[in-house]
Amino acid sequence: MTRSALAVARPNIALIKYWGKRDRDRNLPATGSLSLTLSGMSTRTRVTFRDDLPQDHLVLDGQLASPEAHARVIRVLDQVRRLSGITTPAEVFSDNDFPTAAGLASSASGMAALAVAASRAAGLDLDLGTLAGLARMGSGSAPRSLLGGLVWLPRGEDPEGLDCVPHCLHPPEEVPWGLVMAWTGRGPKAVGSTDGMEHTRLSSPYYDAWLDQSRRDLEQALIHARALDLAALGPLMEANAMAMHACALAARPPLRYWNGTTLAVMDQVLVLRRSGLRGWMTIDAGPHVKVLCPREDAETWAEALARVPGVLEVRPEVPGPGVEAAP
Ligand code: DP6
Repeated sequence: MTRSALAVARPNIALIKYWGKRDRDRNLPATGSLSLTLSGMSTRTRVTFRDDLPQDHLVLDGQLASPEAHARVIRVLDQVRRLSGITTPAEVFSDNDFPTAAGLASSASGMAALAVAASRAAGLDLDLGTLAGLARMGSGSAPRSLLGGLVWLPRGEDPEGLDCVPHCLHPPEEVPWGLVMAWTGRGPKAVGSTDGMEHTRLSSPYYDAWLDQSRRDLEQALIHARALDLAALGPLMEANAMAMHACALAARPPLRYWNGTTLAVMDQVLVLRRSGLRGWMTIDAGPHVKVLCPREDAETWAEALARVPGVLEVRPEVPGPGVEAAP
């Protein structure tokens, strides 16, 4: 007997960062976060439970999954089996239509799509909180990709993570912003987010200061995000990303995700802003720079950033929807 389901999810970019865990086993964040789900890129994941398979079979972007990605996917599948009582192995085919710096292992869209496809294939109709818990077993940023537009994921206080459930502040059609991604490097990053945030927690003298600052940033950011006040949210978003990287840079040994082109793009953002263009930058655990701007300025930003030497590709994005399921 086979049961199958397909889900499509899109990546999200954190405007206020999740960096640090309050419970590593449950993958609960030490910081709440705010994000924008994008529209132009997606992950399609099909999960099929098959009793004729000897074991789980995972094909990610046409290749057998790496041990790290395998472990994350199995964590999600095992949780679905526990919830549904299904004991058969699953076949997972997942494809990204965008370049992944670190493979599916740390892809929010991949884990959100997996949570929805696997639970539906198992015949479960889960509420958002349970789906968020499932997606989180794959990646802490993944619950945010379950929803579209501007999304808030609280840190929560509950030991089981029952209050770590994403909220949509504004659906995509209400958010008049663009997000321009400037790709500044290829290949997997040297230190993935999971290891990077743990290393930071253990060795950065600024980790506690980061947690404090992040709580204050999120409080303010939620006010600006609800008001769709980009002029207030933009500088706060930029400062929050710099604080996260400052904390990581102070780890021992230092954790530096930026390359020379990252700095060149950052310089260019400042130059363009001084010239009157509105836009603010954020950077995740990698070298790429993302600029949040009014939607009507996204093309201008994209053209200007594409001219920075070393930039490989530029992609203007607009806010997109949450995860979509298909039979
Ligand atoms: C810098 O969700 O990839 O992108 O939960 O360990 O899988 P794990 O980490 P992950 O971390 C994302 C870190 C970030 C900031 C963010 O997206 O909030």
